[in-house]
Amino acid sequence: MTVAMATTPNGSKALSNGVFATNRTRIVLVIALVATWLFAGLLPSYKQTVKNLTQKKYNEAIGHFPALKVDWHPRVDSEVQFNSSKVALLIEGRPIPHLVPQLLHMISILPPDWRFKFIGTNKSVMSVSRSFATQHQALNGKLDLVVLPKPWAVDSKEDVYRMLTDLRFYNDHLSEVEWMLKFESDSIMCANSGETLDDWLHYDWAGASRSKNDNFAGNGGLSLRRISTVKRILGFQSRYNDTEPEDEWFGKRITVLPGAKVASGTEENHFSVEDTWFEKPIGYHIRDMGKTLADDVWKSPEKRKANFDYCPELAMIMPMKLERERCEGEDKEGNILL
Ligand SMILES: *[C@@H]1O[C@H](CO)[C@@H](O)[C@H](O)[C@H]1NC(C)=O
Ligand SMILES: *[C@@H]1O[C@H](CO)[C@@H](O)[C@H](O)[C@H]1NC(C)=O
Ligand SMILES: *[C@@H]1O[C@H](CO)[C@@H](O)[C@H](O)[C@H]1NC(C)=O
Repeated sequence: MTVAMATTPNGSKALSNGVFATNRTRIVLVIALVATWLFAGLLPSYKQTVKNLTQKKYNEAIGHFPALKVDWHPRVDSEVQFNSSKVALLIEGRPIPHLVPQLLHMISILPPDWRFKFIGTNKSVMSVSRSFATQHQALNGKLDLVVLPKPWAVDSKEDVYRMLTDLRFYNDHLSEVEWMLKFESDSIMCANSGETLDDWLHYDWAGASRSKNDNFAGNGGLSLRRISTVKRILGFQSRYNDTEPEDEWFGKRITVLPGAKVASGTEENHFSVEDTWFEKPIGYHIRDMGKTLADDVWKSPEKRKANFDYCPELAMIMPMKLERERCEGEDKEGNILL
C-alpha cells in the first residue's frame, strides 16, 4: 500500500509531467518544422539575392577598373609636392639612347621639390616618353616633356642659344621659375657628392670654370641660373644671331651686373667640372659627348680613375672607349711608344 500509495502520486505526477513534457516538445517540434519550411521556402530567393548582390559588386568592380588605373597616380597635388620655382631644364633634339636613364638619374639626385622640363623635337620627345618610368614621372607632375611650337626650334646649337637669350622664352615657358639648372645630354650630377643643389641657390650663376684661375665659373653645360637676373639682362641687352654661345654672352654681362653674385672660378670651382679638374665636384660636363675632352680632367690615368671611382654615372653619358679600346703599345695618354 505504502508502495502503491507512494507509487501512485509519483506515477500520476510522472504521467502528467510526461504528457506536459510531450506537449511542450511537440510544440517546439512544430515551431521548428514551420521555421524550417519557411527557411527552405525562402532559401532559393535568398540565394538569388546573394547572387545578385555579388554580381552587382562584380560588375561595379569591373566598371571601376579603368578609372582605378587612372586614379592611381597623383596621391598628392603636384603643386604641393613640387616647387614650381625650381626647374631642371634639358634641351635635346636628338633621340639619344641614354636620355631616359640620364633623366631618371638626375631626378633621383636633385632635391625632391625640383621639377624637370625636357624640351625636344617630335623624335626626341617620343623616344623619352616611350619609357614607363618617364611616363610615370610625367603623370606625377614631376616631368614635362614638350615640343615647342614655332618660332622655337632646337635643331642646332644656334637655335638653342637664340631660345635661351630670348625674353619671350622665359616669359612664355618658364614664367614661374626662379632657379634653373641647365643640363645637357652630356652632363651628369654625381650621387656621391656631399652637396645638394639647394646649397647653391644664393648664386645668380654657377657653372664650370674655364681655366685654372678663371674669375668666373660660367661654363653653361651644367649650370645653375637665377631667372630674374637672366631676365634683367635680357631686358636691356640682345644677342646678335650667329655670334658667341649663350653662356659666354651671359657671362660677359652678368659679371659686370651690379649686385649679381656669380660663382668664382677659383673659390667655387667645384660646382661642375669641364675644363679644369677638381676633386669631387657636384657634377661633370663632358662637352660634345666626350669628343673633345679636356686634358686637365681626362688625360692622366690617375685622374680618370679618380673621376670614375667618384662618379661612376659618367659611364652613362660617355662613349667609354677610353679604357678598353686602346692601341697596342700606347702609354694610356694617347701617345704610341716605339
Ligand atoms: C620654393 O623654394 C624656395 C627656395 O628654397 C623657397 O624659398 C620657397 O618658399 C619655396 N616655395 C614653396 C611654395 O615651397
Ligand atoms: C610633330 O608632331 C605634330 C603632331 O603629331 C605635327 O603636327 C608636327 O608637324 C610634327 N613636327 C615635325 C617637325 O615633324
Ligand atoms: C635672329 O633669328 C630669329 C629667328 O630665330 C629672327 O626672328 C630674328 O629676326 C633674327 N634677328 C636678327 C637681328 O636678325
